[in-house]
Amino acid sequence: MHDWDEAYGESEAMWSGNPNAALVTEAGRLSPGLALDVGSGEGADAIWLEQQGWEVVGLEPSSVAIGRAAAAAKRAGIEVEWVHGELGRAFLPHAEYDLVSACYLPLFTDSHEPSQLTGLVAPGGHLLVVHHADWDSHAHEGHPAHGRELLGPGKVADGLPDGFEIVLLEAREREVAHGAGAHHRDDIVLLARRVR
Ligand SMILES: C[S@@+](CC[C@H](N)C(=O)[O-])C[C@H]1O[C@@H](n2cnc3c(N)ncnc32)[C@H](O)[C@@H]1O
Repeated sequence: MHDWDEAYGESEAMWSGNPNAALVTEAGRLSPGLALDVGSGEGADAIWLEQQGWEVVGLEPSSVAIGRAAAAAKRAGIEVEWVHGELGRAFLPHAEYDLVSACYLPLFTDSHEPSQLTGLVAPGGHLLVVHHADWDSHAHEGHPAHGRELLGPGKVADGLPDGFEIVLLEAREREVAHGAGAHHRDDIVLLARRVR
């Protein structure tokens, strides 16, 4: 696996510090409940969700990132539960989360399955999966993910089990002013709802 502690350690802040636009748009339309931010990174999405009234768990394998996220939450005067671990390995309650958000996660079809996300969503809850539309050209030769198939929004949509409906699956432009991902201009966004 990519060494995320090493990657985070290369700069004082890797991401913009702002919540992802797709999360703000989509979660902003939902009634707050219990949310899981998978791959919560430096915490901007989890902190924004808490500020909107959600109770939030941030799952993240990098302790460097969790340290930054916890410091940012403290500065914002809010509490988020940070879980140090990886999707599919960390113990998380099944079918409990009203929102499961997975933004720009390095999940691949050879190592993960859609059920590792969908199984966490409570009946009536939503799953948001966002990734870069230009992933294939991004994971060029020499990139650690080269040759692996991304378990991105489209693949998760293809693997939704019975009981889920697609609310939207679409391409969207995004604008990120700074941070390591700022050169990516287009997203693919999946919002699915667990109807039963
Ligand atoms: C590209 S960053 C995105 C961070 C954050 N979601 C955001 O949008 O700013 C991917 C994050 O996923 C985390 N990650 C990598 N593999 C993971 C896994 N299997 N389960 C959970 N998180 C993972 C990384 O440590 C990193 O913080």
